[in-house]
Amino acid sequence: MSRFSEPQDPIFRRLNTSLSFDQRLWPYDIQGSRAHARMLAKQAIIGDNERDELLAALSAVEAELAGGTFVFEDDDEDIHMAVERRVTQLAGAVGGKLHTARSRNDQVATDVALFTRDGAGHATRAIDALAATLLDAAEAHLDWPLPGYTHLQRAQPVYLSHHLLAYVWMLLRDRERFAFAAGQTAALPLGAGALAGVNFDTDRGAVAAELGFDRVAPNSIDAVSNRDFVLDYLAAAATCATHLSRLGAELVLWSSEEFGFVTLSDAWTSGSSIMPQKKNPDAAELLRAKAPRIVAHLGALHGVMHALPLTYNKDLQEDKEHLFDAVDTLDLCLASAAGMIGGARFNRDRMSAAASDDLIAATDVADHLVKQGVPFRECHGIVAGLVRVAVDSGRCLGDLTDGELAAASARLHPPAFRALLEQRAWLESKVSEGGTSLARVREQLAAARAALAAGAG
Ligand code: ARG
Repeated sequence: MSRFSEPQDPIFRRLNTSLSFDQRLWPYDIQGSRAHARMLAKQAIIGDNERDELLAALSAVEAELAGGTFVFEDDDEDIHMAVERRVTQLAGAVGGKLHTARSRNDQVATDVALFTRDGAGHATRAIDALAATLLDAAEAHLDWPLPGYTHLQRAQPVYLSHHLLAYVWMLLRDRERFAFAAGQTAALPLGAGALAGVNFDTDRGAVAAELGFDRVAPNSIDAVSNRDFVLDYLAAAATCATHLSRLGAELVLWSSEEFGFVTLSDAWTSGSSIMPQKKNPDAAELLRAKAPRIVAHLGALHGVMHALPLTYNKDLQEDKEHLFDAVDTLDLCLASAAGMIGGARFNRDRMSAAASDDLIAATDVADHLVKQGVPFRECHGIVAGLVRVAVDSGRCLGDLTDGELAAASARLHPPAFRALLEQRAWLESKVSEGGTSLARVREQLAAARAALAAGAG
């Protein structure tokens, strides 16, 4: 029997179905159904032999889905209905008992929580792998100078190791965000029923334990309405992808003829169809461009959840494509970033030459005067004057005459001034904690390695 007197409009069916994308939840759906069937028997809600028949049918369905032989039918609106329909075809009437004391509302929330937990897990492992690759690259280029930039103008020189380590710290923060998102999936929705709880003495704790949840969601209304954990995953993914976009952007710039700081391996670049000389950094460009897509998924799901009345609404079906695409996109980006960094060859001479323009030492000259008691603002003016004289006459700071130095300030002793303009001196004077001097970078490298190891595993 059905309460409906006319069939569904075909266009409504297309709008309403989620099977084309929620199929990939099948491993979680089977896992959840197994735990549910075992609990029903443990609580004597179904018989032990009924449980066994259900488990056998679930295993057969699992084999069909894993082997690609599962045949979907027109009436399978989503993966949950498809699995239950097939269990009933295989097991007979007892199949209809699987849905005792549950609803698709708590079932889908459980499947999505399991999927999200796994997504956060592989993001974390991929972050660890990328951070380890960056750490190795930092160690291999410990004392290679290059300009540090602000406003994309040469500002102060730094070591390449220091620059690469900046990304490691971003990734270590991303890892914390994914740990938070995973923690938010740890309350079991299953057993909430449609929204109010169920008319059976279930043991939700047993189901939680079997499925690896830490606890049971304490409010059935919240349990079926909650998609915060998806928002949390998407927020973590959006920030992580944004970090990767900055790495991608720098690789695009650095691999250009103009910079020439890095050569990307052939495995991560492509040629042009008409310009044979070209080697395009497509992968780095795509790292740059994928981030806004993940950010948009976060914005879109916030839109779905916004002002949504409790409890379950079909709107919530729109959580999946945003989540799935974000997981797939981020996994691909993290693996690509690791591949690109692992295969990148940095050009010591080009970077060093770019960091050798002694105007970059202007701050160091100012600080030299500060150390002799001249107020910093005054020093800034003195050095700005020197820079102007040098630039206007097409010379560098090192070419200024003793007379020109004396005219700028009586405190500028020419030998001390010239010693400051040695490339190493600018770098090695950055002795503050977190700065670019070699001793500080070594310290930082060890701290980053320890932080990575502490979180891994
Ligand atoms: N396909 C649905 C979803 O993804 C499953 C839950 C359907 N529940 C319902 N009451 N119609 O949200």
